[in-house]
Amino acid sequence: MRVLTLKNMGTLPYGAEEALNRLRVNFGFCGKDYKKVVITSSTPDEGKSFVAAQLWRMLAEAGNKVILVDADLRKSVIRNRYEISGEDEQGTRYGLAYYLAGQAELEETIYATNIENGFMVPTFQTVSNPAILLQNDRFSVMLDQLAKVFDYVLVDTPPLSNVSDGELIASLCDGALLVIRSGVTPRSLVANSIKQLEHANCKLMGTVLNRVQKEQSTYYTKYSKYGYGYGYGYGYGYGNDGEEKKLSRRKGHSSHGSKSGKASKPGKASKPAETSESENPETSAKE
Ligand SMILES: Nc1ncnc2c1ncn2[C@@H]1O[C@H](COP(=O)(O)OP(=O)(O)O)[C@@H](O)[C@H]1O
Ligand SMILES: [Mg+2]
Repeated sequence: MRVLTLKNMGTLPYGAEEALNRLRVNFGFCGKDYKKVVITSSTPDEGKSFVAAQLWRMLAEAGNKVILVDADLRKSVIRNRYEISGEDEQGTRYGLAYYLAGQAELEETIYATNIENGFMVPTFQTVSNPAILLQNDRFSVMLDQLAKVFDYVLVDTPPLSNVSDGELIASLCDGALLVIRSGVTPRSLVANSIKQLEHANCKLMGTVLNRVQKEQSTYYTKYSKYGYGYGYGYGYGYGNDGEEKKLSRRKGHSSHGSKSGKASKPGKASKPAETSESENPETSAKE
């Protein structure tokens, strides 16, 4: 199996690392029924790829055999962000699009990485209309095959609101983590995303309130009614000791129902996890 090398991982500020670690722990509490998990959001730039990649790293570092499938075939960022390198003598690198188009076998698109226990199905070639490829049986076959071999299959996707790809992918997964960009994503869009996940019959495992500005530290209340499932960390701060203490006082569980009350809940309801806006989450990230 070929090996990819990723840079710029694991260089997060302490507080971010800590919050993501809580996400990782609580993710595990969702149980073994949730193997194929889509990391989704309503709009671009909310932090899906960031959360997917960092959760993947942390699950792997904790000893889980985990694979990250980069299914954002239109606008993959993972390759450049982590300066992925590693190719065979011919310079060929098969990614997800090759497999879906029937031009490569699954084994050829699974890569080990420099993160022990962390594997990837990367996207090297973007395509303008991936819906046709994703509708292909090969995608669901791939997810099922991977779920047999790996403890977790994390799928990074395009946003739910723009194109049908996200909902389509969700319909093939056991559960979803919905990333919400704090202070930016309108509540109506979050509600709509939850409906789309219901429609796709994909259980909402939890929400991640991402890119929380320190001054927005109570912002989660705006979205609190959309916090489902297990909590993924209960507020944190970093970069300033006083702020960290202030936020840590807010730790604790609370329950919130859904607007519709219909979303599937694998566990008790809780407020969403928060991942603060880091000044530079992955220190030398380039896009
Ligand atoms: N918690 C965070 N703190 C700071 N920047 C973040 C955070 N999460 C994501 N970002 C940044 O926001 C931008 C969009 O994130 P990305 O993961 O690509 O979003 P999406 O996949 O939802 O489009 C990237 O530049 C990323 O580094
Ligand atoms: Mg992305």
